[in-house]
Amino acid sequence: MSLSATSHRIPLNDGHSVPIIGLGTYSDPVPSPKGLCAEAVKVAIDTGYRHFDGAYIYKNEHEVGEAIREKIAEGKVKREDIFYCGKLWATHHVPDMVRPCLERTLKILKLDYVDLYIVEIPMAFKPGDEIYPKDENGKWLYHESNLCATWEALEACKDAGLVKSLGVSNFNRRQLELILNKPGLKHKPVSNQVECHPYFTQPKLLKFCQQHDIVIIAYSPLGTCRNPSWVNVYCPPLLKDAFLNSLGEKYNKTPAQIVLRFNIQRGVVVIPKSFNPERIKENFQIFDFSLTEEEMKNIEALNKNIRFVQMLMWSDHPEYPFHDEY
Ligand SMILES: NC(=O)c1ccc[n+]([C@@H]2O[C@H](COP(=O)([O-])OP(=O)(O)OC[C@H]3O[C@@H](n4cnc5c(N)ncnc54)[C@H](OP(=O)(O)O)[C@@H]3O)[C@@H](O)[C@H]2O)c1
Repeated sequence: MSLSATSHRIPLNDGHSVPIIGLGTYSDPVPSPKGLCAEAVKVAIDTGYRHFDGAYIYKNEHEVGEAIREKIAEGKVKREDIFYCGKLWATHHVPDMVRPCLERTLKILKLDYVDLYIVEIPMAFKPGDEIYPKDENGKWLYHESNLCATWEALEACKDAGLVKSLGVSNFNRRQLELILNKPGLKHKPVSNQVECHPYFTQPKLLKFCQQHDIVIIAYSPLGTCRNPSWVNVYCPPLLKDAFLNSLGEKYNKTPAQIVLRFNIQRGVVVIPKSFNPERIKENFQIFDFSLTEEEMKNIEALNKNIRFVQMLMWSDHPEYPFHDEY
């Protein structure tokens, strides 16, 4: 696959396309120190990034919007060059709440539409403004999920012009099939955003998605920030891997550049997060070399089938996606 930084976009099944690399904006801690996210987005735009992955629950969506609008005002980019992905949180799955939730994101961003809006997790929580609802004993408050009804409300948002493309995140095969087989389906999901990197290569889900024209968008493509409060640190640090480092030496690249190149070379979109100007630039320098077929196979063989992001606190939710094999 020949890939160029300026033009490489992957076609989506609805006629739109997505830039193969985007900037992740989930900061640890949430929210990020004031102004850091906006600066990162501006550096990223100057570097050549056009795709930004955000969410209401990251609490810095206003900074992403501010930076994008500033770069548009400067004449550096046009709105249509930018691809912004926002997310519908678990407390807003009830159909009547879907459009107001998207409208809230548009208001925060001060934009007229988002390019992609995705169901962030397939599990519904108690509807309302409490992002992580729990009872007085600390027990999670869930809500009965009806993913097809939520999807229909999203389809109406697309028809109203508030969003160009619709997708999902953290969906397993069964949950994707629920949507794909929904009677009267109007708009197919264009993408499934899931954890994906050399230690968790997702071979079966990737194949299933490719068969259904659904693009995989790899979150935590560098192996996360390894904060033990939400990351499974029993899985060794990805970027310390000896084989990945030896490939880095061969190509005069960092292990981060090797793992990002691995995914884009097999058609998987990557959204590495960095708020550090040097690393933002480093993560984008992945279009001037390619891995051999044998190296791609050897990287695939590093798969440990262990997630960094397990979301175990919700494993008793009826729609917890990670009990299934894929
Ligand atoms: N849909 C979901 O459920 C979901 C879940 C998780 C993440 N996401 C999305 O995916 C994005 C990326 O995932 P992630 O943030 O979990 O992890 P990630 O991108 O794999 O890793 C981010 C960590 O790597 C560091 N880093 C960045 N570039 C580096 C480099 N070149 N060398 C060494 N370290 C580097 C970052 O620190 P610095 O900032 O200091 O550079 C940060 O600590 C998120 O920001 C978010 O937008 C979505």
